[in-house]
Amino acid sequence: MTSGLATVAYIGATILFILSLGGLSNPETARRGNLFGIVGMTIAVLATVLGPRVTPAGYAWIVGALVVGGSVGLFAAKKVQMTQMPELVAAMHSLVGLAACLVGFASYVDTSTVFPTAAEKSIHEMEIYVGILIGAVTFSGSVIAFGKLSGKIGGKPLLLPGRHWLNLAGLLIVVWFGRVFLNAHDISSGMLPLLVMTVIALLFGVHMVMAIGGADMPVVVSMLNSYSGWAAAATGFMLSNDLLIVVGALVGSSGAILSYIMCRAMNRNFISVIAGGFGTGGGAPAAAAGAQPAGEVTPVSAAETAEMLREAKNVIIVPGYGMAVAQAQHTVFEITRHLREKGVNVRFGIHPVAGRMPGHMNVLLAEAKVPYDIVMEMDEINEDFPATDVSMVIGANDIVNPAAQEDPTSPIAGMPVLEVWKARTSIVMKRSMASGYAGVDNPLFYKDNNRMLFGDAKKMLDEVLVALKS
Ligand code: TAP
Repeated sequence: MTSGLATVAYIGATILFILSLGGLSNPETARRGNLFGIVGMTIAVLATVLGPRVTPAGYAWIVGALVVGGSVGLFAAKKVQMTQMPELVAAMHSLVGLAACLVGFASYVDTSTVFPTAAEKSIHEMEIYVGILIGAVTFSGSVIAFGKLSGKIGGKPLLLPGRHWLNLAGLLIVVWFGRVFLNAHDISSGMLPLLVMTVIALLFGVHMVMAIGGADMPVVVSMLNSYSGWAAAATGFMLSNDLLIVVGALVGSSGAILSYIMCRAMNRNFISVIAGGFGTGGGAPAAAAGAQPAGEVTPVSAAETAEMLREAKNVIIVPGYGMAVAQAQHTVFEITRHLREKGVNVRFGIHPVAGRMPGHMNVLLAEAKVPYDIVMEMDEINEDFPATDVSMVIGANDIVNPAAQEDPTSPIAGMPVLEVWKARTSIVMKRSMASGYAGVDNPLFYKDNNRMLFGDAKKMLDEVLVALKS
């Protein structure tokens, strides 16, 4: 393939990636967006492998790497549960960071490229230094995020004394060694500052994510997503690959926008989350939280729940992580269909961080064929709860916790929540009184107008459906 044809293919792939991102922003067009992404990536890989920069001697290596990488990816995609997606994503980000580091070191020791001017050589070395820096932070940060999300490392933030000073000292050392690196005359004298910077960047990545509390991990995952994009862009600069630069920048900026949106949804200050120390209640037992509501809960049966739903005119369903665990979305759809056929106005309220990944609930509801027009965002539906007869919470906890509004000492204070308690009756479906992801108690359970339907969400909803149909 000539370089002109490869460039045309790269432009085509870039357009497809932009269309893909546009498609993925809406559940109705997400499938098409995914397809654009697949086609774009296929074109990109083919144009690169068959392009002018790869000689036929390299084909065997590339095919070997594709087979190994593709098999690992296929195995992981088949094996991973939907609820384990965030940790898989974190693991993938670590690979992008590792790739940036390896490409950086390889470009540095590769002496085959001759630079016409000293300035061009310096720019290339700067790209290597910055690329390895971003790659190393992304790599170690993502490995720790994987550990925290999969429960292998505790969710509690590790707050070292003077941690901001440590970070500042690390930054100054990195800048100092950057100068030493750029002034080095040969590879052997440049390798030491490069290695020192890599070690500091790895430690910084570990420190950054260790200092972040469990409740803030979603933001960290999307932030690492953004970093992985910048690491890919840096790799593109090192390899002079325009497509990688553009795609990296797309991922980097969309990840940054997503992090910002999630910070707003959780009422967190973006800079504070990155600096660490927020979400200190993460993973803590309920007793450690500020709110200690006393009182009794009122349990209900599936038959009583069905009765309340049957008599209601307006129902809002709020799904959360428990619906995903129980795989109850299909029964939820059946109940919704049944109630709508009987003239009940059923809608869904989706919190931006419900479940364990952005759009988690939308994906499950779309899979169960719930119509998009009754699935509303939190901001669209929150004002409607006072005019609602029954709000039904299915396996959600933190996202409906009134302590976020009522208790300034709560670790989730200030986080916007779905105000389900403002409905005439709220029903919470969960297995026990256990806390949710943020580890805080939930005063909703003790409110006078709240009922608890204890049990596995799928099992209980099956019973509700049978009772509704009887
Ligand atoms: P959570 O607050 O985690 O609560 C889920 C509840 O589901 C639990 O209290 C659990 O109670 C219940 N549950 C679990 N399995 C169940 C089953 N089989 N049947 C019925 N109930 C079951 O979930 P949420 O309200 O969706 O809030 C999400 C939380 O995760 C937030 O704190 C958010 O910050 C965090 N987070 C979000 C993301 C993204 S991006 N969405 C990523 C990582 C973390 P029982 O054990 O008593 O059943």
